[in-house]
Amino acid sequence: MSRPRTPLFGTVNVTTMCNLDCTYCFMQPMAGEYMSASDFARALSELEQSKIFFLNISGGEPFLHPAIGDFLKLAHQKFHHVMTLTNGTCLSSKHIETIDEIIEVHNRFNVQVSLDSIDPIVNSRTRTKSSQAFSNIRKLSSLGANVIVATVVTRHNIDSICRTIEELAGYAKYFHLMTVQDVRLVDGIEADLGVSQLEQDELWREVESLGESLDVRVNTPLNYDGERGCASGAPCMAGFSHIVIDPSLAVRPCDRLVDVVVGSLKNSSLEEIWNSTELHPVLQSELPYCRTH
Ligand SMILES: C[S@@+](CC[C@H](N)C(=O)[O-])C[C@H]1O[C@@H](n2cnc3c(N)ncnc32)[C@H](O)[C@@H]1O
Ligand code: SF4
Repeated sequence: MSRPRTPLFGTVNVTTMCNLDCTYCFMQPMAGEYMSASDFARALSELEQSKIFFLNISGGEPFLHPAIGDFLKLAHQKFHHVMTLTNGTCLSSKHIETIDEIIEVHNRFNVQVSLDSIDPIVNSRTRTKSSQAFSNIRKLSSLGANVIVATVVTRHNIDSICRTIEELAGYAKYFHLMTVQDVRLVDGIEADLGVSQLEQDELWREVESLGESLDVRVNTPLNYDGERGCASGAPCMAGFSHIVIDPSLAVRPCDRLVDVVVGSLKNSSLEEIWNSTELHPVLQSELPYCRTH
């Protein structure tokens, strides 16, 4: 398969800070960094020159960034397909106003809110204190935002997934189910939290028919293979179609490759980094690179 001349998907992590401490988070260890406004503009301009199709604004928790409102406005001015990834717990009334304005001007705001269960006790087993994400999903939905609910399937929440989809179906039309994936710098996350292939297959069947009956889209991993697969369910796209820019302007091939920096926008353009030999080990790896160390 030929690799695109420039990335198709760009993620800008505006901060590495987070107010939660999810047991499985691949962003560990978290250093407290915020992207400056000038670096954010620089990152967007590089992604614009690369003509990327899809922009993700993520972190850490993006809504902890003091300038996130301005960042979101700029991102929506420059790109058509923008997705903001959030834990849904730090939305202030000011953020809600900004999102409302963006919807008014651009008629769109895509937001992925992470929630592992509608049951606060079950949810807190993996995502600490984040049950207020539910009320924010409702607020975002009432503004007219396109809400996607992202759920990481673990042994803690597998029995509450269907109920979660049922209760949220009035507020979100898209549900992204992911399997928990090992974290590079922490041992045994999958062994500790994962569920068997059999349980997964049963769940995928259940949610598929549930999605049809509720008229919502439930996206599940296809042919998940613990060795070769990516937690998003897709084949590995690190450095193939995806690129990530961190608050320090370090460039990485995938969010999950926390320790693989392939360049910096401080001293190179995105095009130079995309075409550099630094990406070769990732691209030439037999297994997804996150599985190799
Ligand atoms: C790193 S978070 C950043 C955005 C935001 N803080 C949030 O929680 O949505 C992005 C997504 O990655 C998921 N995630 C984190 N670690 C994971 C892992 N080890 N396996 C699978 N998904 C993971 C989170 O649940 C979340 O949906
Ligand atoms: S909220 Fe997101 S960034 Fe924060 S710990 Fe959880 S998964 Fe990681």
